[in-house]
Amino acid sequence: MDNKKLFIPILLGTVRKGRESEKVAKFLFDKMSAHEEIETQLFDPQKMDLPMDDEGQGLKFKNPEYRNAIIRADGLVIISPEYNHGYPGSLKRALDIISAEYVHRSVGLVGVSAGGFGGTRAIEQLVGVVRELGLLAISTDLYFSKVGKMFDELGDPKDRSVDNRLDAFLVELIWVAKALRWGRDNLPSKYDDKLKQLQEEWEQKK
Ligand SMILES: Cc1cc2nc3c(=O)[nH]c(=O)nc-3n(C[C@H](O)[C@H](O)[C@H](O)COP(=O)(O)O)c2cc1C
Repeated sequence: MDNKKLFIPILLGTVRKGRESEKVAKFLFDKMSAHEEIETQLFDPQKMDLPMDDEGQGLKFKNPEYRNAIIRADGLVIISPEYNHGYPGSLKRALDIISAEYVHRSVGLVGVSAGGFGGTRAIEQLVGVVRELGLLAISTDLYFSKVGKMFDELGDPKDRSVDNRLDAFLVELIWVAKALRWGRDNLPSKYDDKLKQLQEEWEQKK
């Protein structure tokens, strides 16, 4: 096993003005950036090119930074607020711009809610989506309930019990990310031809 840091970008799952999930994203970004085994990058769909008159894989060519990050990634952290017991459409629109490029990478799911369930209902629905994308969801989720009361004015959590939960989340995410990096580097996969074809298409059209 090489000692290269694991590259695990973060995708913030909402474009809502005034979104509380942004505080969670900044908190996770700082913690993951400081982690000796992780390199990260925050993707914000407000800053991605996701026009309302298009969907799907054609949009990866308008978002090369995201596409290239996923190609290089060992894992992904998705932060999803809960909107009417589901995940936001803006998260789905961002995820949908690439497909097989996600295959055989670990994903950690982070739920955020105003209510007391931490976004669990959104996360449960998201599991089916990430599975279709070929991401391998870890079973240790991270939840932020009553998020409006969670952070102080500096963006620090008022309840430090989150630190232990975050540690457990990262330990599992890192384990699976390492195992899958080994697998991608050493084992042939039925997706190899598809990924080669996608790479050729990328070179021609980018
Ligand atoms: C359209 C919409 C639907 C929502 N539905 C729920 C819900 O089902 N359960 C809940 O706990 N909070 C719900 N909320 C509140 C969000 O969880 C709350 O805004 C929280 O801060 C996380 O979302 P945010 O990042 O957009 O702020 C909803 C918010 C919006 C905008």
